[in-house]
Amino acid sequence: MKNFVFYNPTKLVFGRGQLEQLPDLIPDHVHKILLVYGGGSIKKNGIYDNVMEKLKERDLEVHELPGVEPNPRISTVRKGADICKKENIDFLLAVGGGSVIDCTKTIAAAAKYDGDPWDLVTKKAKPEDALPLGTILTLAATGSEMNSGAVITNWETNEKHGWGSPLLFPKFSILDPTNTFTVPKDQTVYGIVDMMSHIFEQYFHQPTQSPVQDRMCEGVLRTIITTAPKLLENLESYEHRETIMYAGTVALNGMLQMGYRGDWATHNIEHAVSAVYDIPHAGGLAILFPNWMKHNLKQDVERFKQLAVRVFGVNPEGKSDEETALQGIERLRQFWTALGAPSRLSDYDIDDSKLDLMADRAMANGPFGNFCKLQREDVETILHMSL
Ligand code: NZQ
Ligand code: ZN
Repeated sequence: MKNFVFYNPTKLVFGRGQLEQLPDLIPDHVHKILLVYGGGSIKKNGIYDNVMEKLKERDLEVHELPGVEPNPRISTVRKGADICKKENIDFLLAVGGGSVIDCTKTIAAAAKYDGDPWDLVTKKAKPEDALPLGTILTLAATGSEMNSGAVITNWETNEKHGWGSPLLFPKFSILDPTNTFTVPKDQTVYGIVDMMSHIFEQYFHQPTQSPVQDRMCEGVLRTIITTAPKLLENLESYEHRETIMYAGTVALNGMLQMGYRGDWATHNIEHAVSAVYDIPHAGGLAILFPNWMKHNLKQDVERFKQLAVRVFGVNPEGKSDEETALQGIERLRQFWTALGAPSRLSDYDIDDSKLDLMADRAMANGPFGNFCKLQREDVETILHMSL
């Protein structure tokens, strides 16, 4: 294991009806809040009305920033930061999925920064302060509700970057599985792929002396694998929505990464793909991850074999380690395909015409990945395998 410090101050308020606690969770000194949400799902499913009703129990002036796009844009962050500065907002409330939460986190820091918010995302400037924020999660996927990261896209330059600061941890996150009942099937699948990918990113790491973390990762993966098909049969099953929501949070709140550094190369390639083509984050991951695995198999066959045997139930008898490992990767591909996830970039009409641009974007900060350092030719190979 690597030496580590674990810090996560987000108060998690989990379960049916937990919105009741919202008025008490907003700090006493708060008078003006900015409610941030997406393209309208919370108005259709009634979450907006329920939140407004609870906010009325406090003497609050509520401003709104609707219309945060999936793959949230720096232009929307700028808009939100302007509102915060003009109206002296003192608390941000994000109601939505990862995109709304990431946008809100970046607004929180941008509101206390004098320059262009893009400086923060590109790490040209370090935030010294941020407005406090809380979240009400409506889609299980990113783990953003309990971590300090955010991912923002700049469409003028075709760049998408992840950034973070301890200042961005939500003060609280309300996770009521019933708020995810209306998430459509495709977005539910994307969420499942994303949370599994987060676990893979952490599981493939150097060094590998990490038996507790390995079993934790494998346990969460197996739970997702057995729950996902049942959830897709009944999107309003409280039991399965609850399991998947909790899994998504645990997958990326730092618990699984203690003592690991994680790899994170596939996320970097995916962010390059979705910076050039506006595709769902986890659609890109579903296509890329099995190919990243195949490309890096020889780096540590033993680890890929462990995943194949312990998570995908591959019987290693009579097979070489490499055959066992490969069968595990095949089973992952089959599992995601059976759920309805895409498997090729051509599923999104993406061909090789902008492959160079995607590779450029992925290589922006030089070779990357902690399990395997990827050079430009590796990225090009993985993208070619994915066409
Ligand atoms: O915009 P609305 O109308 O709300 O609709 C959204 C959106 O169209 C819809 N939705 C959300 N909750 C719903 C619902 N529809 C019906 N019922 C509900 N209860 O779902 C669509 C997708 O939402 P989005 O927030 O974009 O999805 P997700 O949570 O997957 O977030 C994706 C973003 O997070 C970033 C990704 O790159 C991408 O930009 N990530 C953030 C991470 C982090 N902060 O830690 C890590 C991840 O790896 C990821 O990169
Ligand atoms: Zn992700």
